[in-house]
Amino acid sequence: MFEDIASRYDLMNILMSFGMDRSWRRRLVDMALKDQPTVLLDIGAGTGDLSQIVSRHAKSPQICLGLDFAFNMLSVAQRRTSSVYVQADARKLPVPVGSIDCIVTAFTIRNIQERQMLFSGFADVLRPGGRLVILEMTPMGGGPLAQLFRFYFGRIVPILGRIVSGHPSAYSYLPQSVERFPSAEALTDDLVAAGFKDVSYRRHGFGSVAIHEALRADQDEL
Ligand SMILES: C[S@@+](CC[C@H](N)C(=O)[O-])C[C@H]1O[C@@H](n2cnc3c(N)ncnc32)[C@H](O)[C@@H]1O
Repeated sequence: MFEDIASRYDLMNILMSFGMDRSWRRRLVDMALKDQPTVLLDIGAGTGDLSQIVSRHAKSPQICLGLDFAFNMLSVAQRRTSSVYVQADARKLPVPVGSIDCIVTAFTIRNIQERQMLFSGFADVLRPGGRLVILEMTPMGGGPLAQLFRFYFGRIVPILGRIVSGHPSAYSYLPQSVERFPSAEALTDDLVAAGFKDVSYRRHGFGSVAIHEALRADQDEL
């Protein structure tokens, strides 16, 4: 699916989030760059938004590797930034154990069913103390605001998606994928179980997205 919507993906993000996605990504990058990491890995790099913000705001020299399995998304990314992109599956990371200082990922893990496998893979390739920062949509629970968002994502976004991307169903799966996704609290537990410590999160976008931050635990802390 991502292969088919690559050329309109960025525009659709801006329209769908009323431009708020920019500030969420910027927050994620600020968190990621806190310890001035040298080697960053962007999982599900898509059209290269995060790598672009990283290279703009990093204060020290760094290498940002973008990984994605959709060739067309990476083609857009490669035209936009000078980062290095790798076409690969996030469930089988093609990088050495303990070689990464920081992993960032935005709006990707919701699309991958094997979450424990994914998080264990992240823990393997991060050095002890390395940072993981995840930006993802999160279930909103009950209440009128949640109902409003459900209507927006369930009815309006699929129509907008059809018009803008030209794909008949690319944006129809969004509401179900968010409802099926663990709550922000449950995701915290999953990260701890996979070998992360100091896990915390903050909600943004009226509670519709969450940014989780975690550190790779040392062996003796597991
Ligand atoms: C919604 S897009 C997010 C792109 C980018 N991170 C952003 O914030 O705009 C999800 C991306 O994850 C990629 N993706 C999904 N599952 C993947 C997997 N198992 N391995 C690698 N990439 C994957 C898709 O190809 C797509 O580019």
